[in-house]
Amino acid sequence: MNLKLHVWRQTAAADKGGFEEYTAENVSEHMSFLEMLDVVNEKLTAEGKDPIAFDHDCREGICGSCGFMINGQPHGPKDQTTVCQLHMRNYSDGQELWIEPWRATAFPVVRDLVVDRSGFDRIIAAGGYISVRTGSAPDANNIPIPKLSLDFAMDAAECIGCGACVAACPNASAMLFTSAKVAHLGALPQGQPERYTRVAEMVLVHDEEGFGHCTNHGACQTACPKGIKVDYIARLNADLRKSALRHPAG
Ligand code: SF4
Ligand code: FES
Repeated sequence: MNLKLHVWRQTAAADKGGFEEYTAENVSEHMSFLEMLDVVNEKLTAEGKDPIAFDHDCREGICGSCGFMINGQPHGPKDQTTVCQLHMRNYSDGQELWIEPWRATAFPVVRDLVVDRSGFDRIIAAGGYISVRTGSAPDANNIPIPKLSLDFAMDAAECIGCGACVAACPNASAMLFTSAKVAHLGALPQGQPERYTRVAEMVLVHDEEGFGHCTNHGACQTACPKGIKVDYIARLNADLRKSALRHPAG
């Protein structure tokens, strides 16, 4: 199949940027979306032009590196699927696609489809760890954990930090991401000693980074390729209220 692509090109954060038009020719339905872009890039390189910059690493849907908007949808049209796992069989011959980076003040464009997501790293650095020694793996495995708590924590730990939730949110809030990172530790026994300071510190950095507030649109949950639910945001808010009661001055 052949596709008409409108791709956002921008050389740096300070550059104005704009859409440029390309044709993707002889695209196999078995290619992933990134492989389709690889072929477009090979042609651009052969013509002496700059290839389209996009983030990627595992190409298996597990690392969180990839991600951009396709026709206004983060990671494209397929539910719970990252762009590296999105296959061209989801498109038809002659289709026109608009491809652009995540749009959020807290995610400045680095180049083309690549955005700076280091704000996520700083949220994690503010509390996404436990500082108590839990021993080696066999010791940790000896701690009894209720099945429901374990499932809740493991589902939260599926968050790959891709940023689609921020891109989907009309407020560019990172609350879904932050709540998943808070919950995967706060639901486990090892995470209890710092549970309430963790949530306060991570939310503080979330706000300082310029992410917006959650106003319950739920677009984040729809866009998330890992099925993280807004229930985690509800739990974050409950923990945040308890944190404020425990540390009124903070
Ligand atoms: S919550 Fe979902 S959409 Fe947001 S960063 Fe994690 S995996 Fe990506
Ligand atoms: S490249 Fe790793 S999740 Fe897509």
